[in-house]
Amino acid sequence: MSETNPFLQDAGVEVPLICGAMYPCSNPELVAAASEAGALGIIQPMSIVFAHGLDFKKGLRRIRALTDQPVGFNAIIEKTVALYERQMRSWIDAALEEGVRFFVTALGNPKWVVRLVEQVGGIVYHDVTERRWAQKALDAGVRGLICVNNRAGGHAGPHSPERLLDDLGDLGAPLVCAGGVGDPARFAEMLALGYSGVQAGTRFIATTECTAHPDYKRAIVDARPEQIALTNKLSGVDCSIIVTPTIERIGLRAGAIAGRLLRYERTKRLMRSAYALLSMWRLKRANAQGSSFKDVFQAGKSVEGVRGVKSVAEVVGEYAAALQAG
Ligand SMILES: Cc1cc2nc3c(=O)[nH]c(=O)nc-3n(C[C@H](O)[C@H](O)[C@H](O)COP(=O)(O)O)c2cc1C
Repeated sequence: MSETNPFLQDAGVEVPLICGAMYPCSNPELVAAASEAGALGIIQPMSIVFAHGLDFKKGLRRIRALTDQPVGFNAIIEKTVALYERQMRSWIDAALEEGVRFFVTALGNPKWVVRLVEQVGGIVYHDVTERRWAQKALDAGVRGLICVNNRAGGHAGPHSPERLLDDLGDLGAPLVCAGGVGDPARFAEMLALGYSGVQAGTRFIATTECTAHPDYKRAIVDARPEQIALTNKLSGVDCSIIVTPTIERIGLRAGAIAGRLLRYERTKRLMRSAYALLSMWRLKRANAQGSSFKDVFQAGKSVEGVRGVKSVAEVVGEYAAALQAG
């Protein structure tokens, strides 16, 4: 398959599956386990440093001690918080020094990351939700596109996986489906449809190697897709969340004044920074302490396919077997 699948060639892995970056759920052991099992684990630097309290280079070395297989790196490049770009640059430099060659950029113009990564023969894929962003990213030099659909965990897009494939299929870039894949059958279905790979997040939270609190894993296993909703109360932009008692109590939408400040050009950036910092703190505590802090658990509609906590090797093995069977 690797001779014909451009994503497998770009990533250097055996199974066309990415364990997507997740703040705060991407602990080093999860990233390493995904790569060790034949998929591609993605490092989320803020997760390593802020959520798991590790020095970034130490986190990288912990992953390297657990696997010598390729790993990727997630660079969220939106300039919300001052000094953020300089910090991201230093994390990217450290990842490149450690031999990381596959990068997933999100939110913002990936041009400067492409320039840095290309110098050492690395490859950038960019998260996109619609054609205009896809075109922009390809103009900036990215190799492939992660097509974030309306079933995704994290920041979901407006379109279905089928519509995204139709809209982006003629662009000539490898397309990876992100969102809604929580079981092996759905994985095989997305590849049969024409995607070169799948990026999954929610499925990997409910694994033994993910250090998320058992309450979080149980909430994913128990949730039905109708219980997943979009909220802008966490980070200022819409992201998918399980509607738990806490979310029912606080509501899904930012209040009228906050909503206006989030839209108004002069206050938008400041508001987004404040929201981002507050949400990073909240999500970190919910991830570590579960419902004894607050039942604030991000997940996508792929909860539908997640019926139990498994090891990462089991998940990746079942997905690979479904492909072989198909
Ligand atoms: C809890 C959570 C946190 C996420 N954090 C990030 C992130 O930091 N960066 C990013 O590019 N994508 C992030 N994502 C998106 C995932 O990488 C992936 O694209 C998405 O989860 C796919 O949808 P699925 O959850 O239905 O599998 C996050 C998703 C979840 C569920």
